[in-house]
Amino acid sequence: MGEEKRYKRTLVTTALPYANGPVHIGHLAGVYIPADIYVRYLRHKGEDVLMIGGSDEHGVPITIRARKEGVTPQDIVDRYHNIIKKSFEDFGITMDIYSRTTSETHRQVASDFFKTLNEKGEFIQKTTEQYYDEEAKQFLADRYITGKCPHCGNERAYGDQCEACGTSLSALDLIDPKSAISGSKPVLKETTHWYLPLDKHEPWLRKWILEDHKEWRSNVYGQCKSWLDMGLQPRAVSRDLDWGIPVPAKGAEGKVLYVWFDAPIGYISNTKELRPDDWEKWWKDPETRLIHFIGKDNIVFHCIVFPAMLKAHGGYNLPDNVPANEFMNLEGDKISTSRNWAVWLHEYLEDMPGKQDVLRYVLTANAPETKDNDFTWKDYQARNNNELVAILGNFVNRVMVLTHKYFGGKVPEVAAMEAIDNEAIEELRGYKREVDNLLDNFRFRDAQKEAMNMARVGNKYLADTEPWKVAKTDMARVGTILNVSLQITASLATVFEPFLPFTSAKILKQLQKEQMEWGSIGRLDLIEAGHQLGAPELLFEKIEDSVVDAQIAKLEATKAANEKANYTPKPIGETIDFEAFEKLDIRVGLVKECTKVPKADKLLCFKIDDGLGGRTIVSGIAKHYEPEQLVGKRVCFIANLAPRKLKGIESQGMILSAEGADGHLSVVMPDSDVEPGSQVK
Ligand code: MF3
Ligand code: ZN
Repeated sequence: MGEEKRYKRTLVTTALPYANGPVHIGHLAGVYIPADIYVRYLRHKGEDVLMIGGSDEHGVPITIRARKEGVTPQDIVDRYHNIIKKSFEDFGITMDIYSRTTSETHRQVASDFFKTLNEKGEFIQKTTEQYYDEEAKQFLADRYITGKCPHCGNERAYGDQCEACGTSLSALDLIDPKSAISGSKPVLKETTHWYLPLDKHEPWLRKWILEDHKEWRSNVYGQCKSWLDMGLQPRAVSRDLDWGIPVPAKGAEGKVLYVWFDAPIGYISNTKELRPDDWEKWWKDPETRLIHFIGKDNIVFHCIVFPAMLKAHGGYNLPDNVPANEFMNLEGDKISTSRNWAVWLHEYLEDMPGKQDVLRYVLTANAPETKDNDFTWKDYQARNNNELVAILGNFVNRVMVLTHKYFGGKVPEVAAMEAIDNEAIEELRGYKREVDNLLDNFRFRDAQKEAMNMARVGNKYLADTEPWKVAKTDMARVGTILNVSLQITASLATVFEPFLPFTSAKILKQLQKEQMEWGSIGRLDLIEAGHQLGAPELLFEKIEDSVVDAQIAKLEATKAANEKANYTPKPIGETIDFEAFEKLDIRVGLVKECTKVPKADKLLCFKIDDGLGGRTIVSGIAKHYEPEQLVGKRVCFIANLAPRKLKGIESQGMILSAEGADGHLSVVMPDSDVEPGSQVK
């Protein structure tokens, strides 16, 4: 198992995000924050570690996006690569390299990797029939074909999946397929591709995962087991597409490497770009550990397909661990780029400048390590106010302020240690051992909890020793208490560095100290007596309701916009004959008065001039109109509806309104000033 094994260095890879959109909180929570915590922890312990990242710039979705916008795929990836790279930098994700799969190094490395496998006879070739667009003169990726879903009848299913019923499909399943490029009916045409025969690799994969890696997270192990138990099939590693790395083989014109073949090789290319002279030891030396940080939708590629590629090539290490996370949802719904249901990192920083660590903290506190989890703005606010402000921020600030008040900001001497002082330090050291143990086992969420417990120790120590009271009688004792508190503060700066790097730096600035080694946590000689501290500064600020309410309102507006965009009108009702229609007497009325009905939040009461002496109508539109908006307006109403009582008022008819996609009611009004009482037919 991981811990007992000796290793000299660790190569950490982070899933390469697709450069077809910006990154959101789901990316951070699932991959980049845990990887960053882990890497900062190892670096802090003085270990040799590299963190590799980059953009995944090939694949069909990028070509679809480009076509939609009328630009080239290169324009799309240039745009998003830069946005994504900046977001990671802004959030303090300390990649040693963030490169891209359109780099020249990568094209070369991926191409050579394919050639080696091809020359070693590690591929098989198969010819199958695939859809071809005769107008556009190209084969169609599954995503480029739409048609009717054979399961639910949805007319707009894609060739890989029906989004209405969630079934995954093959393009051949679609009824009445249509090319998304030209709209024409595609034809079946033969094409030949290279396949990696995973079935051939199944025996060693079984042993390697199911027997030798029982320590992997249960979600990862379980998913691998179910894939292996279903039996592995050969997987195509080439595609008929004009965006990607050309297949370096004879007879491969117009074919590129499948994006999931080239992307993981990107980890190798980016290591090579970063360390051209010694990249090989990071991939091939058995004393290097390889750890892949990914989301759960990537498990099969990193635990089965990529290891099979590495093994087929020969000479490469296989991953030691793949700590994949489940998904982070947002306010109860799955995060979705296409539905704009996300908190985008660049937008977050516009709205919450300087609050990187608050988001890092909340996403780790709710990290989806064992199951899907939910991000909500109310929880974000509560964790900021009740934990960051009230525990960590409060402790550090009290220590700083008290030291300035009693000692002018100069670290006081320890006069004599008492039992209570030693107990606090012992407790602190106990939590530190827990943090180490949890981090070694990729349990970031619990590790952060224990780090916060160290701040709690500090708060309890101050509450128990009450230096502000002791100050009336024994300044030497106050000096000891504050000295111990400052040592605890220094330990907090270190233990929180992997989790909250910006906050750690702020604490160190107040302490006027440089970063300390990980092993120093819990020591009592971190800040010497007589050292001058900097000015106290609040680490966190309370977040008011109005701030999170604005974020919630923004999401609600997105939801409403989505409902409008996806609106499908109700099917038309049962046919009626003309006589039935003629029985309905619809009239125009002029609104003379309109008032809210007391104790009924949906109802408005109208006095209507109907040209025949007037009438009263009660209508359920109070949620959609203020009464004064309707006074003086002409409305349409059903005049011969039997009267009925609503909240004690007799309503003589019904005002007509249209219901929009989002449920909004809009009153129907004639477009000129026709006389009250006019018939509508
Ligand atoms: N782009 C893929 C995704 O976002 C991840 C690729 S990871 C790599 O799901 F291994 F291929 F690099
Ligand atoms: Zn369907």
